[in-house]
Amino acid sequence: MCGIVGYVGPEAGDKALDVVMEGLGRLEYRGYDSAGVALIGQGEVETRKRAGKLANLRETLEQFPLPTTATAIGHTRWATHGGPTDANAHPHRGGEDGKLALVHNGIIENFHALKQELVGKGVEFTSETDTEVVAHLLDEAFARTGDLTQAMREVVNTLHGAFTLLAVHADQPDVVVGARRNSPLVVGLGEGENFLGSDVAAFIGYTRHALELGQDQIVTITPDSYEVIDFDGTPSDGKAYEVTWDAAAAEKGGFPTFMEKEIHDQPHAVADTLLGRTDAEGKLTLDELHISEEELKAVTKVVILACGTSAYAGMVAKYAIERWARIPVEVDLAHEFRYRDPVVDENTLVVSISQSGETMDTLMAVRHAKELGARTVSICNTHGSTIPRESDAALYTHAGPEIAVASTKAFLAQITASYILGLYLASLRGTLEDSDDDLDTILSELQEVPAKIEELLGTMDRVKEIAYFMADSRSVLFLGRHVGFPVAMEGALKLKELAYIHAEGFAAGELKHGPIALIEPGQPVFIVVPSPDSEHGLHGKVVSNIQEIRARGARTLVIAEEGDEDVVPFADEVIRVPRTSPLLAPLLTVVPLQVFALHLSTAKGLDVDQPRNLAKSVTVE
Ligand code: M6R
Repeated sequence: MCGIVGYVGPEAGDKALDVVMEGLGRLEYRGYDSAGVALIGQGEVETRKRAGKLANLRETLEQFPLPTTATAIGHTRWATHGGPTDANAHPHRGGEDGKLALVHNGIIENFHALKQELVGKGVEFTSETDTEVVAHLLDEAFARTGDLTQAMREVVNTLHGAFTLLAVHADQPDVVVGARRNSPLVVGLGEGENFLGSDVAAFIGYTRHALELGQDQIVTITPDSYEVIDFDGTPSDGKAYEVTWDAAAAEKGGFPTFMEKEIHDQPHAVADTLLGRTDAEGKLTLDELHISEEELKAVTKVVILACGTSAYAGMVAKYAIERWARIPVEVDLAHEFRYRDPVVDENTLVVSISQSGETMDTLMAVRHAKELGARTVSICNTHGSTIPRESDAALYTHAGPEIAVASTKAFLAQITASYILGLYLASLRGTLEDSDDDLDTILSELQEVPAKIEELLGTMDRVKEIAYFMADSRSVLFLGRHVGFPVAMEGALKLKELAYIHAEGFAAGELKHGPIALIEPGQPVFIVVPSPDSEHGLHGKVVSNIQEIRARGARTLVIAEEGDEDVVPFADEVIRVPRTSPLLAPLLTVVPLQVFALHLSTAKGLDVDQPRNLAKSVTVE
């Protein structure tokens, strides 16, 4: 939540505003309640800020241009303390002369007490934010120390909560100071210029050399240097790395929205996530999993922690890992896990799943699991983010940057990575040796999935038409069974997020235990039908469910495998997906549901990439 950018270039430089505005454009997915910039010029700090999306700030900058300078910070906000108004927009100024400007991502939990103290000293506030408190404290500390880094060090040690802070001061015009605790901040290293950003997208147009910061660290950038210290003042090196994707990956690539582009990225997201995970003989190799084979063999339970779409990927993973590796798997919403006294020990493998690697609920749950002695693996899409850094091992998905707030390609990449993990655990434990499943067959079926997604994406015209016909729907239900159940819930989540329509995903077997009462004439219901090859007659049971709801007037929109003719008599619409083995089906069946939500949102004239009230990464609890 909230995106922040900082830039410092050569003394006579003039591109600070452009760099920061471009960075904010790439970070707007993190929050779009307001946007603002602060520039240092002529011994003073100038700011422009506006409620609403970045476009509003651009308008303001056209009406009230800023001078060209070499140093700037910027912010795009997801509101926590104080509504989305001009006054609450960042940057916030500190001190009577307003020479200090600050942007913030996170929550200062003790801001109220700190504010009381400042008010007692006669400080006047112009916003309702927790951030302004820090701006005044920093200004006070700067007045005492004459050094922004030193001032930042004093102030951060008085703050509780989660924060990334970036500050500039008119008396140190070639310096931007950043600090982070429980909230993301990366450094971009350029030639004669340096950058700070909530993620690398902020500066990917300028450099791919990045520096990862640790927890509780402060970084000071000038045009030619960077310096990292811990909050206690101990110098640190940070961890340098190269960003593997380029600026084009963070653009729309000719699609009208990021979401549509990301849906079309999915064949690559799956293929790239599989890449490099098998050796020349096709044997699975997970060198990045820095947990010994002995420890993995000793695992007695897997606990998957995640939120939102990532949690649905975790639910799919449960079916696969239990089936292949014969280890019990629990899937917990991260925010529930932490507060319910979970039973976890050193033989528990805790697998967190997070696209951003910054979701606060998931991060806190992982920390809690570590305290309880568990080994932790992070399935994550964002290199250098906090959750993989704090986990014992990271299994990166290679979906590339996901900008649209609604997750699509990350979901498929997460499922793919969890399949790899499940197969790897199975190969270590020998659990596929006496089973009907054969590791090589599953792996080669997985390798075929990207081409099948590509083929499926070429057949989505009818789904688009259905979405347009259904633009006035008030409620849509989704049914699925086995791995189709999390897919149904993901379909419902996409529709809620993007089209603001009431949507629920149910386990098809649960239908007669209550949800069938919702069926009335005309009620649209998507049904994710299991493969006819599924065990235990699941396919037939779901076909019966379709008949039951159709008999009560439901409009049935059936997602079924090519060649599955049993569904035809009971379907108002049949949406075909290519055949694959039953456990791998979610990589295909979810695609029409993503496309449906995308087009229904478009049909309603809504903002597909930036749905209301949401932010891409939820970095507050
Ligand atoms: O970055 P994460 O994967 O940890 O994010 C988890 C959820 O916040 C995220 O999946 C959210 O539900 C998306 N908006 C779904 O489209």
